[in-house]
Amino acid sequence: MTTARTIDELRRALAPLGADADVGLVPTMGALHGGHEALARRARAECAVVALSIFLNPAQFSPGEDLERYPRDLEQDLLLAAGWGVDLVFAPTVEEMYPADFATWVDVEGLGGTLEGAARPGHFRGVATVCLKLFNLVRPRRAYFGQKDAQQAALVERMARDLNLGLEIRLVPTARDEDGLALSSRNALLSTEEREAARALPRALAAGERAHAAGEDAEEAARSLLAAEPRLRPDYVRVERLDGRVYLLAAVQAGDTRLIDNVVLEGAVE
Ligand code: PAF
Repeated sequence: MTTARTIDELRRALAPLGADADVGLVPTMGALHGGHEALARRARAECAVVALSIFLNPAQFSPGEDLERYPRDLEQDLLLAAGWGVDLVFAPTVEEMYPADFATWVDVEGLGGTLEGAARPGHFRGVATVCLKLFNLVRPRRAYFGQKDAQQAALVERMARDLNLGLEIRLVPTARDEDGLALSSRNALLSTEEREAARALPRALAAGERAHAAGEDAEEAARSLLAAEPRLRPDYVRVERLDGRVYLLAAVQAGDTRLIDNVVLEGAVE
């Protein structure tokens, strides 16, 4: 596995592959876990070359969010990526990605301002901008995103379509802990009590899924289950159509940590 810390190193690593290489990109912010493993292994099965980026993107965090306490462990991440069959890791510094005179941003209207975008102003502008930069640098044929961040994946897909990037966005089912909690780098920030309370989130979504299947109100079913867990503060519980599928999406606050999750009510993620 090659590790590139600068854009020059990345270009040198990619050059021998040629312009038409079958590269799959797994964009991450590090603190790798089983969810990233599922993305990397899918990419490994579908692409000749697997690239994985590790960049804790400050542009997608607002002041006062959890950038400072976001978990980071590059050494461990490199070991994991190598074990998953990744060929190339791109792990640039903030200065490399955003030089002092950086001035160009990508805004995806509509989708960028709802749900997570409404709760976290500027978040998706940071996500879209860094993803476009990563796509321009790595030139992948496919990029892999997790279903847990379904709105992010739909937004990146919209950007790819609108800007004619000519790459495929692949959505991979959410990886979960044994008790159903979606794997997330932020789970490491939960106290024991918050971690226990967090189990109510997947349970609420499952209740919503059952209600929908029975012709009842999915949002209402999920909300009432969440209301029974006072240690979680729900932000939104919403049924939305994204990328052609109908999702039940929810965001909650567990202490200082924001958790999001969703289930597909109509359609499938395979
Ligand atoms: O989902 C993430 O980890 C990030 O939002 C991404 C896609 C790597 C962009 O920084």
